[in-house]
Amino acid sequence: MSLSEATIATVKATIPALKEHGLAITTRMYDVLFEKYPETKALFSGAPGEQPKILAAAVAAYAMNIDNLNVLGDAVGRMTAAHVRTQVKPEHYPMVGDALLTAMVDVLGDAATPAILDAWTEAYFFLGDLLIAKEKELYAAQVPA
Ligand code: HEM
Repeated sequence: MSLSEATIATVKATIPALKEHGLAITTRMYDVLFEKYPETKALFSGAPGEQPKILAAAVAAYAMNIDNLNVLGDAVGRMTAAHVRTQVKPEHYPMVGDALLTAMVDVLGDAATPAILDAWTEAYFFLGDLLIAKEKELYAAQVPA
């Protein structure tokens, strides 16, 4: 499955807003995530203070390369390694997706139009499914403790 041209165009159109508000969105995302899904908090116990900054950069990089995802190979490798190290599982992805979309609405207000939210929902789960598939391979390759 691939993303539609319309989704790609809509996500790309949000790049300026992400550059301006990306950090506010990801900072808000963690607040929403931990409030609504407190079970995710323990996963981040060793996370650096700049985690929202790291995620904001990842979201912006994703938007900029959404039509050429090969460029993201190294970044995907780092993300999946970090996720497997901290025991991120497929069931966590809808929680982060919900928190990210809620944060976009909270920070961008009316600028977060239904078309933008639909496009980002599709784009988030597209990347999410890719990460989940790679993480499944990494978990399967681990020697049982
Ligand atoms: C498409 C969705 C996601 C993206 C783009 C993403 C992005 C990232 C990035 C860029 C890092 C830093 C990797 C590094 O160390 O270089 C990271 C680490 C991490 N992510 Fe995600 N992530 C996603 C989904 C999730 C989900 C669903 C969870 C679970 C609640 C999660 C939890 C974590 C944790 C716990 C770390 C490690 C923090 C540490 O350094 O201890 N992520 N993620």
